[in-house]
Amino acid sequence: MASPIRRIAVNTGGGDAPGLNAVIRAVVLAAIDRDWEIFGIERGYGALLGDGDMIPLTQEAVRGITHLGGTILGTTNRGNPFEWPSTGPAGNPIVADRSDEVLAAFRARGLDALIAIGGDGSLRIANGLARKGLPVIGVPKTIDNDLGVTFVTFGFHTAVQTATDAIDKLHSTAASHERVMVVEVMGRHTGWIALHAGMSGTADVILIPEIPYDLERICGKIEARYANGRNFAILVAAEGASPRGGEASYLESGAPGREARYGGLADRLARQIGERTKRETRSLVLGHLQRGGSPTSYDRLIALRFGAAAVRCAAAGRFGVMVALDPPAIRPVPLEDAIAHIRRVPLDSDTVQTARDLGISFGD
Ligand code: F6P
Repeated sequence: MASPIRRIAVNTGGGDAPGLNAVIRAVVLAAIDRDWEIFGIERGYGALLGDGDMIPLTQEAVRGITHLGGTILGTTNRGNPFEWPSTGPAGNPIVADRSDEVLAAFRARGLDALIAIGGDGSLRIANGLARKGLPVIGVPKTIDNDLGVTFVTFGFHTAVQTATDAIDKLHSTAASHERVMVVEVMGRHTGWIALHAGMSGTADVILIPEIPYDLERICGKIEARYANGRNFAILVAAEGASPRGGEASYLESGAPGREARYGGLADRLARQIGERTKRETRSLVLGHLQRGGSPTSYDRLIALRFGAAAVRCAAAGRFGVMVALDPPAIRPVPLEDAIAHIRRVPLDSDTVQTARDLGISFGD
């Protein structure tokens, strides 16, 4: 018999994504519906480590936030309690394991459960805390859609829509100037956004990390278009894509507690394509536009469902799990399984095959 729940907390970790506030609203209303107290932990785990507050969440606090991008709790992707960033004696960046402090603070506040909304990094943290005894339930968030064992993460659909709208807008200027437009989209180590937005936005070339590209193949596709009188081309590149036998493009190398940051691919490709084809090329990076904006109705709905399902797991005493979309249902899966691997674009999928059937080049 699950011990009675009286007080729970919710936090948001990692990069923000459209839909976070919808999850928070569903968690709060479902908890209040059970006469529980519900608190928001600001900035990931920061409020449990002296950086921010733990705020009571009421119906009023979450009124009208379903459609708002971002998170009312704030978030960070540099707040891993197992690798808490600080500065060493020589002013050098160091990290410290403060996870025991998180558990102590959690218990000192009389909390019975934590609902942790995050991507693979945040859920890896949640799993580490679960292994130490924290009663936690994960909710799969990321625009990258790179979490295993859930059909989709919330935030992805909205990011694809934002990228698709941007790509749509490029066709007229590319055609008017007879140019090659290179659009860089997010996605970290996977090409889900590039694939879905590139196909929806009628790109001619889509580059994804899962398929190393050959520059000559890309230029061949572009030249074929011009030879057929289609005097422009749209290329959508996932930020983590890389040439066969070469490296991806980075803005920043990694540091203790911080991943390396992708960046620079669109400029690199535009320059290389321009040099080889002598066509005018331009590049643009959609960047954090894909993280913003109001969530689509699809993302709002799965976010609301995830939040309410997480509260039901807490009520049933199901901890160390993540709520996952397993169409048509939402069910709990072990956090261990959720973080076992990032989910890459399957190259034998019908979506990839459809792109090829449409004549889209993956640069291979
Ligand atoms: O994981 C979400 C994401 O937007 C990735 O697609 C991107 O590479 C990364 O976060 C950017 O991180 P930051 O917001 O720290 O620049």
